Amino acid sequence: MAQTLLVTGGAGFIGSNFILYWMEKHPEDKIINLDALTYAGNTANLASVEDHKNYIFVEGNITDRELVDRLMKDTDTVVHFAAESHVDRSILHPDTFITTNIIGTHVLLESALAHTIKHFHHISTDEVFGSLKLGDTAQFSEATPYNPCSPYSASKASSDHLVRAYGETYGLNYTITNCSNNYGEYQFPEKLIPLAITHALVDKPVPIYGDGLQVRDWLYVQDHCTAIEKVLESGKTQETFVVGGLTEDIPNIEVVATILRIMNKPDDMLTHVTDRAGHDVRYSVDWTKINEELGWNPSVTFEEGMRKTVKWYLDNQDWWQPLLTANKDFFKTNYSNRK
Ligand code: NAD
Ligand code: DAU
Repeated sequence: MAQTLLVTGGAGFIGSNFILYWMEKHPEDKIINLDALTYAGNTANLASVEDHKNYIFVEGNITDRELVDRLMKDTDTVVHFAAESHVDRSILHPDTFITTNIIGTHVLLESALAHTIKHFHHISTDEVFGSLKLGDTAQFSEATPYNPCSPYSASKASSDHLVRAYGETYGLNYTITNCSNNYGEYQFPEKLIPLAITHALVDKPVPIYGDGLQVRDWLYVQDHCTAIEKVLESGKTQETFVVGGLTEDIPNIEVVATILRIMNKPDDMLTHVTDRAGHDVRYSVDWTKINEELGWNPSVTFEEGMRKTVKWYLDNQDWWQPLLTANKDFFKTNYSNRK
């Protein structure tokens, strides 16, 4: 049956990929995209659907209760992506992370409850679990205790706790996905993979924090979209699923080496710089639950996903070049004091 989805943060990286995916797969559904258009929001990502009769864009803030209430009246399902998402920015300026990620989520939860929303899906991160040990075989699962280490992950952990509390205390039907590092089309070039591609293309050194042996689990963004779809369509509520894309550890220096190899650039473009404060050294995700209960699998290998991603950034320089210029101040502050 056709439904209305309120998607928050739909002009960002994952949110815009999700809206494009959902509108293609579920053309009968209506999408309301509520996005404040911070530095990370970009309506160009959604140019192909902006005139679609089932797509409505609303520029606004998730902390604005009056606006959220207005939109919630017509909503069946909330898919909540809106957040401040970059760890380095959270180290420099934690305040907006607290406001958007914690207070914003709380406003949405209050409004969802007041309007008896059928399903509230919260997009979270594996970073809430803190850091695993390098060289260990332990993995994050739905049972892993929370131990966030950055202002970003602490704010996301708070939002997860609020979502569960609204489920337990007030009976809100919720689900949470804690997924790993996404990569792919439309990712703002501040994150490692698009930063490395955009630097390599113009023969600029690619900065690697510390020794570069840190490990992340990498999830192709289209596979994240299918994971969210599986959760929404399962009809399950009061459940959490962790989502990852890999089954082996790939250190950051290998991630960058893969990009340089695909782009035919020399290895020595990789440059070690001062480490990130409080840097989590290893994330690894055991995604057995979503695989066994919902039949979800990633569709691409890391190599395949990286090839698609490199190609997209090479073909879409008009998309990312202006973002580098407009965000010069952040890049200067974050990198100029790293030796
Ligand atoms: P992003 O930074 O690319 O996009 C965030 C979007 O939210 C932007 O469009 C921005 O304008 C909007 N936004 C920010 N503050 C807002 C506010 N107060 N009100 C309304 N809109 C606001 O983020 P992303 O990488 O697409 O991440 C989306 C979600 O997924 C986040 O909740 C993030 O924590 C989570 N997540 C991301 C990753 C990843 O690797 N990128 C991994 C795990 C989880
Ligand atoms: O794990 C999921 C998380 O992944 C999401 O919740 C966050 O929103 C998302 O930003 C991402 O966080 P990370 O901090 O892991 O991503 P980032 O791309 O910033 O960094 C990936 C790794 O690369 C990390 O170990 C830091 C390192 N790095 C990053 C940058 C930007 C570098 O070595 N050099 C860099 O210039």
